[in-house]
Amino acid sequence: MNHKVADLKLADAGRLRIDWAESRMPVLMALRERAKREQPLKGMRIAGCLHVTKETAVLVRTLVAAGAEISWSGCNPLSTNDEVAAALAAEGLSMYAWHGLSVDEFYWCIERTLDFKPTLTLDDGADLIFQVHAKHPELAKSVIGGTEETTTGVQRLRAMAADGKLLYPVYAVNDSETKWDFDNVYGTGQSSLDGVLRATSVLLAGKTVVVGGYGHCGRGVAERARGMGANIVATEIRATQALKAVLEGHRVMKMDEAAKLGDVFITATGMKDILVGRHFDVMKDGAVICNTGHYDCEINIGDLEARTRSKREIRPNNEEYTLKDGRRIYLLAKGRLINLAAAEGHPSEVMDMSFANQFLALCALAKDGKKLEKKVYALPPEQDQELAQLKLGTMGMAIDALTAEQQKYLSDYSAGT
Ligand SMILES: NC(=O)c1ccc[n+]([C@@H]2O[C@H](COP(=O)([O-])OP(=O)(O)OC[C@H]3O[C@@H](n4cnc5c(N)ncnc54)[C@H](O)[C@@H]3O)[C@@H](O)[C@H]2O)c1
Repeated sequence: MNHKVADLKLADAGRLRIDWAESRMPVLMALRERAKREQPLKGMRIAGCLHVTKETAVLVRTLVAAGAEISWSGCNPLSTNDEVAAALAAEGLSMYAWHGLSVDEFYWCIERTLDFKPTLTLDDGADLIFQVHAKHPELAKSVIGGTEETTTGVQRLRAMAADGKLLYPVYAVNDSETKWDFDNVYGTGQSSLDGVLRATSVLLAGKTVVVGGYGHCGRGVAERARGMGANIVATEIRATQALKAVLEGHRVMKMDEAAKLGDVFITATGMKDILVGRHFDVMKDGAVICNTGHYDCEINIGDLEARTRSKREIRPNNEEYTLKDGRRIYLLAKGRLINLAAAEGHPSEVMDMSFANQFLALCALAKDGKKLEKKVYALPPEQDQELAQLKLGTMGMAIDALTAEQQKYLSDYSAGT
């Protein structure tokens, strides 16, 4: 058997979800049509470790249509959509993913995807590629290259490359403009609030929402929460980011101060210990806390547990912690990605561009990966313009192009005012 999923009987429901996503992802679907003819991934074996969502299914089907064999696991214990995983397994695809797996099972699933000795790897958070490096370095010899989907993964792979430890080249898909400036901002912005609302159904209007980290994701969350009437407080460690938050109309302060004011806290830093014991000590009764950064270490749950008298699951993805002094704090999705655990991840429309980048990165590796060094590479910026142009076209929009005269003006350094 080439799969382990929660329940194959969920496949019909999964197919409906995937059909819906395909209807919202015209750029990736256009690439699929071309790839069916050209077979750019023929002979490639791709091991993937990325949230099993309906959008990922559209990517997986595109990889297969392009000639690849795939073997897949989810990249987060709570992010797999069991219906989607069942639909892909029922199509005969190698799928090792179910919602709510333990950490041991998580690594077991990754191991199964390595059984077929991949020629390409695809990561979201770098767990798969780390597993190759730490446990199976011999497999790296037959891997042409890899791709990385998210900020935290790219940061860690860059650190690895700087230490000379990276065993094959990796494309930092995250860093493409059509990924980082769209997926992380608009995707995380909308879907994180979707997760908060599904888990709590709170009224955001009039609430103080504290956003930990005003980077791409944090800014997206802040903008969307403000759009629903919340007052935003941002915390930062980089002065420029903090300044942007201020000039965009938000309050900025240290988390020690923000902790006293917040009704809802959303961490989006990629850094551990953004909310720790001393913050829980001063939070209001009823405060809601959650995380949308990649791992579950932004909220120190151990510190929360240490202050807790009792806890109960009050709603799906919402645990009420009653502290020893009687205050209640509500932890969503066990501190894991709120948008994937409690909602459906990013909207398909935004994943259309992220996964078009993934697809093109894998095609580039299949074609020329053997010529690359063992480094982390950015995708070509022209690709961003092409993808954005395609996306605009699917939205029925056209933009101007420079005329020949304008081109000349651009490079004419003799012209004054
Ligand atoms: N939920 C999702 O679906 C999703 C999507 C994309 C990225 N991510 C993850 O979200 C995290 C953030 O990604 P990003 O693209 O916004 O990164 P980013 O680098 O653009 O932003 C992170 C921000 O956090 C700030 N920061 C770091 N440590 C901090 C601290 N101790 N206190 C306050 N601020 C701090 C940084 O200065 C930076 O401005 C990463 O872990 C990334 O992998 C999640």
